[in-house]
Amino acid sequence: MKKSVRRAVIAGNWKMNKTPAEATALINEMKPLVAGADCDVVLCVPFIDIPAAVQAAKESNIAIGAENVHFKASGAYTGEISAEMLVEAGVQYVVIGHSERRQYFGETDQTVNLRTLAALNAGLKAIVCVGETLEQRELGYTETLLKYQTKMALTNVTAEQLKNVIIAYEPVWAIGTGVTATADQADEGNGFVRAAIAEAYGTDVAETVTVQYGGSMNAKNAEELLAKEHVDGGLIGGASLKAADFATIVAAAK
Ligand code: PGA
Repeated sequence: MKKSVRRAVIAGNWKMNKTPAEATALINEMKPLVAGADCDVVLCVPFIDIPAAVQAAKESNIAIGAENVHFKASGAYTGEISAEMLVEAGVQYVVIGHSERRQYFGETDQTVNLRTLAALNAGLKAIVCVGETLEQRELGYTETLLKYQTKMALTNVTAEQLKNVIIAYEPVWAIGTGVTATADQADEGNGFVRAAIAEAYGTDVAETVTVQYGGSMNAKNAEELLAKEHVDGGLIGGASLKAADFATIVAAAK
């Protein structure tokens, strides 16, 4: 199977930006600009913005995602949000294991796996992030690390459930830095992810999985990145906060 039959997914990751009122305004601005998209369009927003975002995106081709999910169904986990809560609020996607959560909030490969399972069991689509730091890259560990993180995240995920998994390769050194991986580096990293999926599930299954690139993807470099064989979409931080830039990236994905 070739890239052309994998569905491209462009997802914005707003991080800790936009109030609910600002979310409504930005989505209303984006809606007409992305209406003709030839890819799936997702906006992952702060928890508090979800009701406003779901409302604003109604009857459009924009799906709303969350930026994290807890792995337990309910209980004494102050400050956390369950998969069931997200589903009831109209959320369809959730980002899991973003490097900022790994770096600042104690996220581990084990908790990434548990969150992924919880999301999938609730019927959410999981956007699972993997990526190496600059130090790991310079030491030559990129392939080993990407394969390890991918396989750890997918532990006990069935081939059937994998249909609802997107992996986002996000080199940590490229996130929010303005330093984008070259198109070849992105393709290579995404290829390592796909190879890990092939090792775990077989080549035929691996060829069907959407693998995004993320890390300073913007209106200028998106087309070149998205043209690569293994780059099936993007997870977009900074550029997803500007309607015109995000729409340009969406238009570059086919
Ligand atoms: P960036 O963020 O596009 O601002 O680099 C990407 C991400 O963290 O998902």
